[in-house]
Amino acid sequence: MEQAGKRMRVLMLNGSWNPDGSTKAGLDVMAEAFAAEGVEPEIVATGGKPIADCIACGKCAGLKRCVFDGDAVNEFAAKARTADGFVFGSPVYYAHPSGRIQSFLDRLFFSTMNADRYAALRHKPCASIVVARRAGTSASFDVLNKYAGISQMIVVGSTYWNEFHAQTKDDVQGDPEGLQTLRNLARNMVYVMKCLKAGREAGVLPPQQGEEIYTNFVR
Ligand SMILES: Cc1cc2nc3c(=O)[nH]c(=O)nc-3n(C[C@H](O)[C@H](O)[C@H](O)COP(=O)(O)O)c2cc1C
Repeated sequence: MEQAGKRMRVLMLNGSWNPDGSTKAGLDVMAEAFAAEGVEPEIVATGGKPIADCIACGKCAGLKRCVFDGDAVNEFAAKARTADGFVFGSPVYYAHPSGRIQSFLDRLFFSTMNADRYAALRHKPCASIVVARRAGTSASFDVLNKYAGISQMIVVGSTYWNEFHAQTKDDVQGDPEGLQTLRNLARNMVYVMKCLKAGREAGVLPPQQGEEIYTNFVR
């Protein structure tokens, strides 16, 4: 049951090793736009230590969480249950998202799928943002959006693909169109979250899940 008057919350993931670099600067721009609309933002850092890869052990099916406890993946999954929206932010490394955000999201999505078919994430708005000095942004953006596409999340768009350009956080202000894209993205996410809340309050619920069909292309 939804608490009346509860502030909506957005969980934002910083996929850079650097807790205070360009990615964080972009997430801060969005956080400010969320706060201005009355939505509570929380930025979760992945920096500090290496992030383990998913080792496909499948233990998450029994544990209902990832078997690795030494980083923020399980903490993020727990917070996700009560969050209303998500932003995944990454620097571009060799034209792909950082290795650490891919490891983080592989484990977050695999463990939440095995726990309860992505219950903490599905039918909630999601956006990814990417920052690069120069190139590889749209390829990286595509990779991050695919996590949302397989888990019934609602991908929100902006006035350009969600990218901005900077080598360090000091460059971020030099890309006004990129910053405008981030602000418009945050406002569009708030709009979608409000529509979903109004829908829930009016009795519009996500569709029932039919029987799951799962086949490999191997006979
Ligand atoms: C290993 C590595 C690979 C990178 N590859 C790219 C790249 O393919 N394209 C690009 O434009 N910038 C690339 N960059 C630059 C970063 O994307 C850029 O400096 C970004 O602002 C860093 O964000 P952060 O401060 O949040 O970590 C790369 C940086 C590193 C360290």
